[in-house]
Amino acid sequence: MQQDLANRIEVTKGDITRLKVDAIVNAANTSLLGGGGVDGAIHRAAGPGLVEECRKLQGCPTGHAKITGGYNLPAKHVIHAVGPVWHGGHHNEGALLAGCYKNSLKLAVENHLKTIAFPAISTGVYAFPLERAARIAVREVQDFLRQNDSIEKVIFVTFGEDTYRTYQKVLAEA
Ligand code: APR
Repeated sequence: MQQDLANRIEVTKGDITRLKVDAIVNAANTSLLGGGGVDGAIHRAAGPGLVEECRKLQGCPTGHAKITGGYNLPAKHVIHAVGPVWHGGHHNEGALLAGCYKNSLKLAVENHLKTIAFPAISTGVYAFPLERAARIAVREVQDFLRQNDSIEKVIFVTFGEDTYRTYQKVLAEA
């Protein structure tokens, strides 16, 4: 991978709600009204203002994303991306997951954001196979950053050793 590109993509371990970046991406559901996993953690850390704003957005289709304020989070914004549920791989899951990354990055550029952090979208409750999801995430982010130099840093925040190792491996092979 080109050095410049490599410098703009990072993998870390930890809790995405702690990151002081322009936007953290939430692995949301189509209602945008909260849930478990990282969605639950983000809403808990942001406080009630977040779901109040989400209520006005009237949901979000799978593969797409919407942006809100960050409220009590250290991040300025939350980009709510709705990943696909894994149904075996023959229901356009790969393209829908790719759309989450593309559309989140597009929103970041439209809102003049420079730093954005992603969780491993769809690899928890939605059961998308981890390595396959990581490959899609890394490919989409690399392709986007090659075309858009306004984004300075993309951080993949992994929650658990297995996810961390998988992202490191996929990035090293990219
Ligand atoms: N910080 C970073 N990553 C986290 C955190 C956190 N605080 N909490 C969980 N994760 C990780 C999970 O370990 C997993 O790797 O986020 C990844 C995505 O898992 P989920 O949160 O289960 O999201 P997903 O698989 O996309 O399922 C979305 O779950 O919570 C509901 O409302 C949500 O219906 C939606 C569904």
